[in-house]
Amino acid sequence: MPHKTLSTALILAGSLAFSATSAFAADPAMLGNTCAGCHGTNGSSVGPATPSIAGVAKETLVEAMKAYKSGERPSTIMGRIAKGYTDEEFAAMGEFFAQQKLVTHKQEFDAAKSKAGAKLHDKYCEKCHEDGGRKDDDGSGILAGQWMPYLTYSFEDFTSGNREMPKKMKSKLDDLVKKEGAAGLDNVVHFYASQTGEK
Ligand code: HEC
Ligand code: HEC
Repeated sequence: MPHKTLSTALILAGSLAFSATSAFAADPAMLGNTCAGCHGTNGSSVGPATPSIAGVAKETLVEAMKAYKSGERPSTIMGRIAKGYTDEEFAAMGEFFAQQKLVTHKQEFDAAKSKAGAKLHDKYCEKCHEDGGRKDDDGSGILAGQWMPYLTYSFEDFTSGNREMPKKMKSKLDDLVKKEGAAGLDNVVHFYASQTGEK
């Protein structure tokens, strides 16, 4: 289990005065061992169902980890992983990943769908997922360049009611699905996938 690796590493660090927080901050390589196997080097995932977490705001990551730990947010894996850590460690991870530069990868997207998705994004989503989903300053996460399968799973969790979302997002998402159907969400997925690299 990844958290066992961490505990062992902390014990090996040898000093009780050496807090978990400073251990994380001082040795990013330790994080490498615990998260990188799935989330890629410094949080830039090589896909496809594991999201990138590089560059997300500290609070976004902390809230996600807490929600996984409590079971409030559904997961295949993260619930078990999050249970191995304290709030202090979540804070240290949040700080670490917030400082990492997101490296995105080209994905095969459909140009027509992406174009339609761009319009839908502007109309329904840009207000909170600013700058085409690149910006995360209000806990909304980074959508630009995120892996398509991960985005698709996320929408399934949201629309089935499995995963909670902010009330205002729900009303926009419901609106979009009502007017455009599931194809509308698929278009948005293609749009985010197209948003790699610099603008
Ligand atoms: C065994 C693979 C694995 C490991 C190790 C792992 N993760 Fe994850 N992570 C996932 C998967 C898969 C998801 C998607 C949710 C799910 O199904 O569990 C995810 C989702 C997340 C998310 C949500 C991202 C978003 O866009 O909302 C965060 C934050 C996260 N992980 C942080 C971490 C941190 C921090 C670590 C290291 C302590 C870690 N993960 C270790 C596989 C992993
Ligand atoms: C009122 C603000 C708001 C609006 C409008 C909004 N969102 Fe969100 N969105 C959020 C917040 C906040 C989160 C983080 C929720 C959480 O994890 O608890 C989020 C999370 C997400 C996620 C999950 C990201 C991840 O890494 O797991 C996706 C995908 C998403 N939004 C897509 C959309 C789309 C598509 C629209 C437009 C139809 C939209 N959102 C509109 C605020 C908003």
